[in-house]
Amino acid sequence: MSIAMTTSLRDAVYEKYREFHGNEPLLVRSPGRVNLIGEHTDYNQGLVLPAAIDKHIIVAIGQRDDHRIQLYALDQQESYSLALDALGRSPLLWPDYIVGVVQQLQQQGRQLAGFNLVFGGDIPQGAGLSSSAALECATAFALNELFELGIPRLDIALTAQAAENEFVGVKCGLMDQFASVFGQDQRLIKLDCADFSHEYIPFNNPDLRIVLFDTQVKHSLASSAYNERREQCEQGVAWIQQRHPHVKSLRDATLEQLDEHVKPMDATVYKRCHYVVSEIKRLQDGCEDLKNDDFAAFGKRMFETHDGLQHLYEVSCDELDILVDLVRDNDAVLGARMMGGGFGGCTINLVKVDEVQDVVDTVIAAYNEKTGRNAQAYIANISAGTHVVLD
Ligand code: GLA
Repeated sequence: MSIAMTTSLRDAVYEKYREFHGNEPLLVRSPGRVNLIGEHTDYNQGLVLPAAIDKHIIVAIGQRDDHRIQLYALDQQESYSLALDALGRSPLLWPDYIVGVVQQLQQQGRQLAGFNLVFGGDIPQGAGLSSSAALECATAFALNELFELGIPRLDIALTAQAAENEFVGVKCGLMDQFASVFGQDQRLIKLDCADFSHEYIPFNNPDLRIVLFDTQVKHSLASSAYNERREQCEQGVAWIQQRHPHVKSLRDATLEQLDEHVKPMDATVYKRCHYVVSEIKRLQDGCEDLKNDDFAAFGKRMFETHDGLQHLYEVSCDELDILVDLVRDNDAVLGARMMGGGFGGCTINLVKVDEVQDVVDTVIAAYNEKTGRNAQAYIANISAGTHVVLD
């Protein structure tokens, strides 16, 4: 089903581009992501374990003869146009993800000319599946191809992250953009955000599925709370650093150091840092579980991550907690937790393949009863990262 959907999405984007501009576009596909474990660790130089999924943004792009950028969003059915030498924020919001990338490339001294770009996607928006990172990565990759800029993949991801940090204003880490650009079929990416080294971990257990439950809510404090968490982590590091100058991030910190130097200073900062230091360890242990094919142990850690995000990092919300609580005692669900930045979006669940339908039906009905809302369920298949669409 998803292949057919993606094919028709590709056709829709392609045909809209042809209708507007007549010439033959270059097509680029960039995926959304899931993250198995390691949440809010990326901007603390920790480890993350994401994977690209079979939901994408598709961009059609071609050169213009002038120095303008002409954009069209298929889903919103909105156009936006601006001059390359007068980049600025847009009230429509979606152009910012594209224009932010253009601005970064210009700041790097890259030679760009005018271009037309049409895009569409099947990544649910506001669901924490990184549709914005996918758009940024698709744009950076497409511009790199179109203008033959010779940018390596890592720099494409970093450029997309910088667009989000500096133009959009969310001080995110690199996880989403890295997963979108570096994803591989049926493999998780164990990314070390201290030096961007990474290894692929096969994830193809035929007995399990990754099921996402979408709360269908996105609370408005998400980006301000995100930036605040980041500052709290930096504050904790600053206190430790006064006595231990080699500690440059929470990646280098120990629980003992937190007890000694952060706990006496501020209870909230202590909770935040405690969660992060524990989560980095949990991810490392979780990778051992995966190597041993011990998905039950891995699933338990996912629940522990949720508990930390709920009570210590405090980035969950009632709707996410309800979705996790609904599967805690269900033997068909090995693990579940909120995923991504928080305050809405999805939970990620490891579910026994034969019981997926039962679990989905039960959870959706119970969630509706408790919240009056209709949750959506998606199966996430792990797939390839950003690439040119050749067919
Ligand atoms: C968002 C950010 C990521 C990461 C996660 C939390 O998705 O974009 O960089 O920090 O939240 O793990």
